[in-house]
Amino acid sequence: MNKIRVHVEKGSSSSYEIHIGTHILDRMALILASQAWARRYFLLTDERVFALHGGRVLGVLRETGLTVEEIVFPGGEESKSIRTCTELAEQLMERGADRTSALIALGGGVVGDLTAFLASIYMRGIAHIQVPTTILAQVDSSIGGKTAVDLPSAKNLLGTFTQPKAVFIDLAFLETLPPREFTNGLAEIVKYGIIEDPEILEDLQKGEEALRRRDPSFLAGIIARACRIKKAIVESDENDRGLRRILNFGHTVGHAIEAESGFAVSHGEAVAMGMCAAALLSERRGHLSPPDREKVFSAIRRAGLPVRIPASLDPEGILRGLKKDKKKEGEQIRFVLLKKPGLPFVNGGIPLSLVRETIEELRA
Ligand code: GLY
Repeated sequence: MNKIRVHVEKGSSSSYEIHIGTHILDRMALILASQAWARRYFLLTDERVFALHGGRVLGVLRETGLTVEEIVFPGGEESKSIRTCTELAEQLMERGADRTSALIALGGGVVGDLTAFLASIYMRGIAHIQVPTTILAQVDSSIGGKTAVDLPSAKNLLGTFTQPKAVFIDLAFLETLPPREFTNGLAEIVKYGIIEDPEILEDLQKGEEALRRRDPSFLAGIIARACRIKKAIVESDENDRGLRRILNFGHTVGHAIEAESGFAVSHGEAVAMGMCAAALLSERRGHLSPPDREKVFSAIRRAGLPVRIPASLDPEGILRGLKKDKKKEGEQIRFVLLKKPGLPFVNGGIPLSLVRETIEELRA
């Protein structure tokens, strides 16, 4: 099992560990038992993940003597709401959860963000543990302490920075991921290649066959590298005031596409389209050379992700979404642009007309 320690300031401890490996649930149970982070644990998960893995996870934790109860809710972005959060808080209350209880988030990004948000506000904050089951959650949302629920008009608008006690990344969960969800997660790995370590792009290309087979040792290597990049960025800017903003490469346009499609376009697909928009904007502003722009597009294409925005999406709707982005400052929308792969920067002065033209050009 691979361990990565994340040093942070927010939260009750100054650091926590990301544990990465295949079939690490027994190890997780032993760590929970020895750390005694809580007297009672509540396993929060969605219906699909519970059906696939819930019984096994509960069994392993209970065998170790831990007191664990499950709370299962419907999956999907619609659940990432303040309403679901209130309903879950009521359930915790009814079952007698108190400050000596902790939540375990078992699932993808929605489960992780929602559970962490609930943990950060329930009785003014209780401990939580992340057990991400998708690539997307394993390399991004489970690490770094961002918690969130959506508002009907914008994604992730309510949230806190609250670090987990630990993150357990069991690669065995990836065996049951539907193909679209698997590819979806590759978008965030490609992002790390583009913004920080272009060698990842080459390795994804060389490892195409291993990736197709979901080879555990290939996945362990690439996921651990992605986690190390995220850890380093979070450590240097926990509260998203500077360097951490580069993690939003592709997310500004991506979130707007996701929302405009009513979440029919998945997060990874939308981020892929958003990364293409950011690369094209970078080229148009004279920061990125055409061959480097093509490098970005081909890495996205090779990962099986889209490089075009569906023509069915209204560009004006996407632009309206951009104006609601929480990373906007006054009238300025901040974009993460590129000078070359591995060299991103933040630019606040992109005229909306140029964004409109870029979106038009990318429409299929
Ligand atoms: N997912 C972006 C961040 O954690 O900052």
